[in-house]
Amino acid sequence: MVEIRCGDLWKIYGSGIVALRGVSFTLVDEPLVILAGPNGSGKTTLVRIIDGEISPSRGFVSVNGLSPDVARAKGFFGVMPQEARLHEYLSVREYLYYLALIQGLNRYEAMREVSRIIDDFMLQEYASTKIEYLSGGFKRRVLLAQAFLGSPEILLLDEPTVGLDPEMRVKLWDIIMRYAGERGSMIILVTHYIDEVRDIASRVLLLYKGQLVFNGSPGELLSKMGYRYRVQVRLRGSKALENLPLRFHHRSGDVIEFYVVDEGELIKLLDYLAGFRDWVSELSIDRPSLEESYLQLIRLLEGGGGGQHL
Ligand SMILES: Nc1ncnc2c1ncn2[C@@H]1O[C@H](COP(=O)(O)OP(=O)(O)OP(=O)(O)O)[C@@H](O)[C@H]1O
Ligand SMILES: [Mg+2]
Repeated sequence: MVEIRCGDLWKIYGSGIVALRGVSFTLVDEPLVILAGPNGSGKTTLVRIIDGEISPSRGFVSVNGLSPDVARAKGFFGVMPQEARLHEYLSVREYLYYLALIQGLNRYEAMREVSRIIDDFMLQEYASTKIEYLSGGFKRRVLLAQAFLGSPEILLLDEPTVGLDPEMRVKLWDIIMRYAGERGSMIILVTHYIDEVRDIASRVLLLYKGQLVFNGSPGELLSKMGYRYRVQVRLRGSKALENLPLRFHHRSGDVIEFYVVDEGELIKLLDYLAGFRDWVSELSIDRPSLEESYLQLIRLLEGGGGGQHL
């Protein structure tokens, strides 16, 4: 079981920039938490405070009841930082092997663990290559691999997909899906690809200008859109549909977009459209994405002066 508590966290950097403005939340047994927000909203700052790398200017963090630096010393965290330098003079296998020894594994366990991680992150071909000779994307894979080394209770991944090719990105979501919640672990994932992980995420935290503006399930974020389905109908010619069954729609030329709140309404609409089937030349139904909900929320905040809690 993992519990992370943050209370009224503020971070004011030496430069005077206020990166966090009173962030509070509690995460208990969340397999996968998405941490999202615009550039500069404080995501990396929050991650670095949780893992004890930097301290907050005000407020507290506790990780299973411990302060972050104690939790860090106990090896609770696996971290993929947004930016980092690796020990370039070692080969991939040597680097991971030494990290595993530092974590307290014996030589045999360390060798086994490193082989497993090298397979997972498709590094076999470059296992004996010095890190300095790797391409940028493979360096990112090594950085990612070291975070998973030793199966830590808490994984903090700060934009892990940056620089990964599509094959490795899909593989990473697989690895994350397998890992999330296993043995009670928790993953905090900073990513802009929120829809790619929406089905495996248990919670979404949204930061905006240093404030936590949303804390809920992916479903709750989606419901901010106010509708569950979007139906698009293209009409042949200028045939007008009469007595539309839904008030919530938008028409532009010969295309009508309906915003449907539930399955009952969807069936009603499709029944109605069946009466006009000779006039309908195209029909599509899709679901709003998390990204759309996110953008709608951000637009509301920007329009409404920002910073208020929703
Ligand atoms: N070491 C630092 N010294 C001074 N200011 C900093 C430092 N690190 C971050 N900041 C500032 O704090 C604010 C939040 O930055 P942070 O890196 O936490 O944002 P982020 O949400 O991770 O952004 P991104 O999506 O670009 O990674 C920004 O205004 C940034 O310029
Ligand atoms: Mg960042």
